[in-house]
Amino acid sequence: MGVLNSRQVDINGHAALRADSAEFQCNFGRRAFSLEHDLAENSLFSLEVLEDAADSWAKLGKLNLVSVSMGQTRTDARFSEIAEKSSISGAIRDLSHSGSYVKISNINALNANYEEVLQQALRDVEDLLGQRVVPRITWAQMTVFLASPNIVTPYHIDHEANFLCQIAGEKDVWLYDPNDRELLPDREIERFYLGDLNGALYREHLRGRGRQFRLTPGVAVHHPSLAPHWVKNGANVSISVSINFCMRELDRRAHVYQVNALMRRIGLRPSPPGRSVTGDTVKARAIEFVGTSRPKNYRDAVFSGLDRLRAPYRLAKRVVMRSTR
Ligand SMILES: [Fe+2]
Repeated sequence: MGVLNSRQVDINGHAALRADSAEFQCNFGRRAFSLEHDLAENSLFSLEVLEDAADSWAKLGKLNLVSVSMGQTRTDARFSEIAEKSSISGAIRDLSHSGSYVKISNINALNANYEEVLQQALRDVEDLLGQRVVPRITWAQMTVFLASPNIVTPYHIDHEANFLCQIAGEKDVWLYDPNDRELLPDREIERFYLGDLNGALYREHLRGRGRQFRLTPGVAVHHPSLAPHWVKNGANVSISVSINFCMRELDRRAHVYQVNALMRRIGLRPSPPGRSVTGDTVKARAIEFVGTSRPKNYRDAVFSGLDRLRAPYRLAKRVVMRSTR
């Protein structure tokens, strides 16, 4: 990494994210790169305070925003294989020996202090890029991952762009080129955008194409949208914070993939996004016409149009199933 900018900004005198701005501008959204952050020094991300945050979501009945899973140890494991644990209580305290994985989603909606950290990070992205980004963001959130020693997050892709910031413990993140279509074929992206979390398949013989990033407290790595990745925890309990966000152009590309997936189902051979501006516009508008223009969450931003398009088909299918019982 190049020489860091020592910029002074308005929160606590420090930026949340720090990087060489030339490197940041060259790589943001295109390829993975490491940078520095100051969240590891923030008491909001201590294990005790995060345990309270997880409890708060549970007490508010928002059980979809905090999950505890049995940890995996295989890179090629399917997300559908990962068993959910039923109890949140005590899971965080037992992390050192329980082989668990805890995810606290949208923590910024729980408390204004977390929201301020998220907004500061987004301002830092704009400062480093030298251009406005926030108007293009359709949904942003901060997610916390707590993991037992040696747990593996299996190979997968995400729609959102992400800055994964290490708070405590160490982990290795392997990131791959999101534009490598041998590694990540268009059909796998289409499956992912139809809602299949296992859409991207791990190919052991292409493992060497990944770039390994060692995350230690204070170090972050940028994941471009759709960059395949998998993660292996070190020998200690790991705390990581993900600043992740959807952007208008990423949502639009997702909608093109969704139309392509539907076209392929009726025997057509659609062109992938990026080949035709007009074709992409027509496809994306077909989805956006029926989707929500004011997304309240990730699901809205990416899937609301597809869900509404598929609703009559699903209803008809249910009616047929019932009438043939
Ligand atoms: Fe991920």
